[in-house]
Amino acid sequence: MQSVQGNLQIKGKRQADATPHAASLIEGMRDFGYTLETAMADIIDNSITAGAGRVEILAETTTDEPWIAVIDDGSGMTEAELIEAMRPGSKNPLAEREGHDLGRFGLGLKSASFSQCRQLTVISRRNGQTSGATWDLDKVAKTNVWNVDLEDDLHGLPAVDKLPETGTIVLWRKLDRLSTNFRHDTAKRSAEINKALSGAERHLRLCFHRYMEGSRPKLKLLLNGRLLAPIDPFATTHKATQVDPEEVLPLVSGEVVTQCYTLPHHKMMSRAEWEELGGPEGHLRSQGFYIYREKRLIIAGSWLGLARQTELTKLSRVRVDIPNTMDADWKIDVRKASAQMPPIVRERLRRIVERLQGTSKRTYQRRGRKLVSEENLPLWNRIQKDGGIVYRPNVEHPSIQGFADLLPEEFRHGFRACITLLGSGLPVAALHADMLGGAESVESDRSDFAELAEMAETAIRELLKIGMTGSDILKTLCSTEPFVNHKDSVRQLVEEIEQGEHS
Ligand SMILES: Nc1ncnc2c1ncn2[C@@H]1O[C@H](COP(=O)(O)OP(=O)(O)OP(=O)(O)O)[C@@H](O)[C@H]1O
Ligand SMILES: [Mg+2]
Repeated sequence: MQSVQGNLQIKGKRQADATPHAASLIEGMRDFGYTLETAMADIIDNSITAGAGRVEILAETTTDEPWIAVIDDGSGMTEAELIEAMRPGSKNPLAEREGHDLGRFGLGLKSASFSQCRQLTVISRRNGQTSGATWDLDKVAKTNVWNVDLEDDLHGLPAVDKLPETGTIVLWRKLDRLSTNFRHDTAKRSAEINKALSGAERHLRLCFHRYMEGSRPKLKLLLNGRLLAPIDPFATTHKATQVDPEEVLPLVSGEVVTQCYTLPHHKMMSRAEWEELGGPEGHLRSQGFYIYREKRLIIAGSWLGLARQTELTKLSRVRVDIPNTMDADWKIDVRKASAQMPPIVRERLRRIVERLQGTSKRTYQRRGRKLVSEENLPLWNRIQKDGGIVYRPNVEHPSIQGFADLLPEEFRHGFRACITLLGSGLPVAALHADMLGGAESVESDRSDFAELAEMAETAIRELLKIGMTGSDILKTLCSTEPFVNHKDSVRQLVEEIEQGEHS
């Protein structure tokens, strides 16, 4: 090896020193695309890998120097391990990981933290020894060297008194990314950080729900002293949820396990349950695959380009489980928030989607046909026409027919024309748009029985005239809109009219 004009020469190849500039590279590590929620999840991944049973997030947002801490009771680290953990690229992404290990790149602790703050302190306790180390980006910017500060005096550090006998605290200070707008207004800044935290809360309850569930959950997750409840996106414990059998796809690098769920219809659950399952994006946007890496949710509610999210498959959710041995095949990123399907898995998932689309279509068509054909006397007819479907008011309905008969001859035609006009004016485009926003919120107008009484009376008299019995009339009328919800009132009316006719 000899120096050539300041460069190194090894075996005939000229080489030059290209050590990264600490100040610039560490700033670059801030922008891997994390949000507060994905960053926090990455920190909690480490706690779970370290075997923690309790992870508490504490946030002090009301002081001049707000901070966020994640405290776990996992294995903790010795000082040497802690220093190694602070190193960007502390582990080789190509190295084999244990089955329960949620890490891959040796980067997450640093990149997730720097995405939210300029000062990261990790305090860890193991075998009775407590150690602390800090990356301060402002200091690195000045010194341009890859050195962490070792914390010899831990007293006075936020949350340090919360460190369990064995465990770790990840402390974020200088939260420049979380309070960009109101740097000098403590109250507004606090509100801004708290808003971001409550947004992250749902993400964490979903991400780790499989660790948090069960009579003996493996993980208790707390936010500022409050135990968080898991959100199971498949409503597995709801008795009306349909669960298909598990399917296993064995591959060289591991097994992909899939299971299809059909959520209960919204009428089968409370509004709160339904809304929690749909989340802020709603059910339409929450259908699709839920991909778990080692039981940790990495992608939620997307058909990954295999299908569109439509009303038809709105209640379909597919659990996909992958092991960490498939990280390279799935191109898992540092944030554990994106992945690409290997072609063979894509093919399998495509078949699952096609099957789901077929089943949902048949169920809806059957339900649609049934809805109308089961009614003996529909107010609306559903007619298949020119390859499409037309809804047309039924002018033969006894309420309409009966009223028309009461009208003088010259008005009857005009009356029927009005009804037909109402039918052809059905605002189909607006209905489509409303249905897309949330089909379950679109309903027919529920009338008061007082408004319907006259119409019911006409219909009952019409049907008695053609020789139907009172009980048949009751059955016929109450199987159809608009009387379906007024059975008792109709029964009373039928009895009164029958008695009147007999006396
Ligand atoms: N809470 C913790 N308890 C114990 N050890 C930890 C904790 N957090 C991090 N470590 C150690 O620090 C190392 C580095 O963590 P980091 O998140 O940077 O990388 P990783 O988890 O190995 O991989 P990835 O970049 O995919 O997250 C971990 O491998 C682990 O050994
Ligand atoms: Mg990690």
